[in-house]
Amino acid sequence: MQSTTTTVRRQLSCLEKMMYLLGRGARTRSQSTTSPAAAPQYTLAIARQVPRSFPNAITKFAAATSSDTNISLTTTIQQHDAYLKTLRSFVPTVCLPALDDLPDSMFVEDTVVVMGNSAVITHPGHPARRAEVDSIRDFLGNQLGMSVKSMSDYPNAFCDGGDILNTSRHLFVGLSERTNRKSIQVLEEVLQVEVIPVTFQGNALHLKSIVTHVDDSTLLAPIGSLGDDVIKKMQAIEKGYTVIRIPNMLACNVLSVNGGLVAQNMGDEEIRSILKQVAEDRNMIVAFVDCSEIAKADAALTCCSVLLNI
Ligand code: GLY
Repeated sequence: MQSTTTTVRRQLSCLEKMMYLLGRGARTRSQSTTSPAAAPQYTLAIARQVPRSFPNAITKFAAATSSDTNISLTTTIQQHDAYLKTLRSFVPTVCLPALDDLPDSMFVEDTVVVMGNSAVITHPGHPARRAEVDSIRDFLGNQLGMSVKSMSDYPNAFCDGGDILNTSRHLFVGLSERTNRKSIQVLEEVLQVEVIPVTFQGNALHLKSIVTHVDDSTLLAPIGSLGDDVIKKMQAIEKGYTVIRIPNMLACNVLSVNGGLVAQNMGDEEIRSILKQVAEDRNMIVAFVDCSEIAKADAALTCCSVLLNI
């Protein structure tokens, strides 16, 4: 039987959650000067409803691995609802209203890089995504009271949050088609952290399309040359990471949140059992969600939320 607290938490509306947070007030937090802070206990996740235009989302890489590229809006909404339900079992979650004219706007991860109470609103690498940042800036700055800076105020810097891998011990930034070196300077200056740049080439949109973290010493990366290359460029082994290799790149995108490991249901028993074991070995609870529709838009489950520890 579910506890009353859990049931009540799940039934809270987004507005009530915001009011709860505003009532607490956002705490200020001293910044680290060399590396990200110790593993955070997240207090809030931000997501965004699926826009009606989602079937027109940008896609480039998915077509290389699947012949089925037609996005079903109905299925996307069902999968997103299930994702939110799973996320809310690990962390209170605010789901912002849809931006119906911006097809990729549910991928909130790309719009901001957060470190404690500080946020850098990104200047997304694809021009069609730049209008997504206004409402996230308003929410974080004006409603949550976070310290917010805009990357667009710095000339020639662009970045998608999907290229930011914060393992708590290191902040890796993928240099992709969407993220450039100038953005690294901005992140270092504003967030006062050391950034480790990771160049990569291959059929992947973002660094986190290839590798994500389970905890501060465990990474998931795909079997094959792209995984080999990225792990080498990160100097992951030298930095003390155990790298679990998975026979599917999409399955390497997991969301580690407050002892939960949210993973993508690939319909593959071998991958499922690897991920179950990874979670069990670390006393984490694994939860699988279906992400077939967002995968057609080159996205994965981390794209759909931003985790805060304010
Ligand atoms: N469809 C996700 C992106 O291209 O940014």
